[in-house]
Amino acid sequence: MSLDLAAETPPHAPDKPPADGPARAPLTPNTLRTVVRELAERPEQWIHLVRLSTEERWYQRLVADDDHEVWLISWLPGQSTGFHDHGGSRGAFAVALGELEELSLGGPEQGLLIRRIPAGTARAFGPEYVHDVRNTASGPAVTLHAYSPPLSSMAHYDLRAGGLVRTSEEGPEQW
Ligand SMILES: [Fe+2]
Repeated sequence: MSLDLAAETPPHAPDKPPADGPARAPLTPNTLRTVVRELAERPEQWIHLVRLSTEERWYQRLVADDDHEVWLISWLPGQSTGFHDHGGSRGAFAVALGELEELSLGGPEQGLLIRRIPAGTARAFGPEYVHDVRNTASGPAVTLHAYSPPLSSMAHYDLRAGGLVRTSEEGPEQW
């Protein structure tokens, strides 16, 4: 018996890469952290854009590149993301003004981790990371976020007794 391997080949498989070449490799979390940290230290580049919204977190994309994107976000006291992933993108965020709190699940020994993230600090994470970021302070906060590859989807989760349970997913059309 012989296998017909040719039948396994998709009919439209390209025999060479497209003219613009293969997609660029994603930036590392460390590189993304440098991007947001440096931007957070240069408020003259974004402070005039910042708005505050009582409806929900306000956000605006500052950079939309092939291999990464950068968002500017403002947080009023009490505003939060809920637990979410980043659709397989790596990411980093820096607090430029104010202070945030980040919740994530550590290993079985650690349970729920709560980190205070004051102005001047940044966090970076890999493609599987899930967290909840919130402004529990008494004043507004402003943050810079970078993702690579650019965000394609985000799933939301509920934290229940057994762990995180995926509840919904959103795409760029919701942003
Ligand atoms: Fe996030």
